[in-house]
Amino acid sequence: MSDQQNPQPEKEGVYLRKIRSFVKREGRLTKGQARAIEANWSSMGLSVDNGMLDFSQVFGRQAPVVLEIGFGMGKSLVEMAAAEPDKDFIGIEVHRPGIGACLADAEAAGIKNLRVFEHDAVEVLAQCIPDASLARMQLYFPDPWHKSRHHKRRIVQPEFAQKVRQKLAIGGVWHMATDWENYAEHMLEVMSQAEGYKNQSASQDYVPRPDFRPLTKFEQRGHRLGHGVWDLMFERIA
Ligand SMILES: C[S@@+](CC[C@H](N)C(=O)[O-])C[C@H]1O[C@@H](n2cnc3c(N)ncnc32)[C@H](O)[C@@H]1O
Repeated sequence: MSDQQNPQPEKEGVYLRKIRSFVKREGRLTKGQARAIEANWSSMGLSVDNGMLDFSQVFGRQAPVVLEIGFGMGKSLVEMAAAEPDKDFIGIEVHRPGIGACLADAEAAGIKNLRVFEHDAVEVLAQCIPDASLARMQLYFPDPWHKSRHHKRRIVQPEFAQKVRQKLAIGGVWHMATDWENYAEHMLEVMSQAEGYKNQSASQDYVPRPDFRPLTKFEQRGHRLGHGVWDLMFERIA
């Protein structure tokens, strides 16, 4: 019997999703990252066990909420949260050293408008994010899963596009960026066919990098080497 026919209960009432967009890497936490988690988790950490969020309770105010999936080490997320103090930010990452690095940077920057989950974003969306609540969702340089046989692990898929749409407010924007051309084409194909979205590109493909997305070091190096980066922005219209 295949795994699909025989799902194993993860916990009562919940079944393991078999295809995940990440492989959990057992990276070592540096002392600084461990300290940052210890010192800041109570004020900045969120847990799926607490269920659906009430943003005004979480942030103590009402403001547009931006959610980022797979923030890596969190450098650009912290920069964005610092640059847009009128918005509240939620970051999701499964890589613990990334959580530690992000919290250390957030603490150093003294920002109060950022919270993080250490969990699979697909489950966080389903269990913790109210429908039609987000002003923007961001996915920057997601794991490209180069080999054809792994393309099914790419997080951008028709079904996922609809899960994202469900969480965006009408007028909210799903912003993706990748440096892997084949994934950019895949994103464009999936999103162009997805119901309820409008491509914000005048040419119906890619948009220039918006000012709010910081240029990462890795991207600057890519530019010097002549590598491309593709940004896609789709607005929820229905
Ligand atoms: C290639 S890295 C890019 C990190 C960062 N966005 C950047 O631009 O440097 C992709 C990240 O997404 C995370 N990731 C992949 N799937 C995820 C999921 N379903 N939920 C949360 N994080 C995920 C991985 O752990 C990894 O850190």
